[in-house]
Amino acid sequence: MIKILYITRNMNKIREIEKILRKLFKEEIFSVEAPSSDIEIIEIQSDDLADIALYTLRKALEKINMEKWDIIMREDSGLFIEALNGFPGPYSSYVYKKIGLDGVLKLLERHENRRAFFKAVVAYKIKGIDDTFISSGEVYGVISREARGLEGFGFDPIFIPDGYDKTFAELGEDIKIMLSHRTKAILKAIDHYLKTVSNKLYHISVE
Ligand code: IMP
Repeated sequence: MIKILYITRNMNKIREIEKILRKLFKEEIFSVEAPSSDIEIIEIQSDDLADIALYTLRKALEKINMEKWDIIMREDSGLFIEALNGFPGPYSSYVYKKIGLDGVLKLLERHENRRAFFKAVVAYKIKGIDDTFISSGEVYGVISREARGLEGFGFDPIFIPDGYDKTFAELGEDIKIMLSHRTKAILKAIDHYLKTVSNKLYHISVE
């Protein structure tokens, strides 16, 4: 079993990642866990998702025993709306809590341009390698005129991915994970991990 520590308190993210990995690799070769409650998750404010994710990862690594895990990941994500110059972006979680879906729809009331994208940045550390790495993924679409659908979390009820006429919350998790920013970012990190591990196996076999 390849053990992933996913640094978050958002269990929606953990559920999505488990689903992504199960769908992709069929067998259960990955286990995904959140850190225990005694590990403090430290976040900074910045305009750059990569800075935010890397800072949180590095702070957590000071407290975590790397030996127990094969990959440690921190993901930061946000919704970037074109007509609002990328707002809320890295401030998405705060904006969601403060003004919610209705607040964002109101900000866009007079705008014809409803283009937006979700972006996820994953900062990660692979056991046995000193460096920390970054991967990212995006999904493009538009903001709906009203909130629709019950699945997912956060801004899912107002985001319609390109190629569809339903929101992520209407499409449901099975379709969302085929398209999402989070899936793309995580798969790049997993691909990197698997290449690293197979390179190591290769080195062992030729020595
Ligand atoms: P954070 O990455 O935990 O800081 O949170 C980012 C915020 O962006 C979340 O609280 C959501 O409001 C929003 N967000 C990020 N990814 C998604 C997604 O897949 N669906 C809906 N909202 C998301």
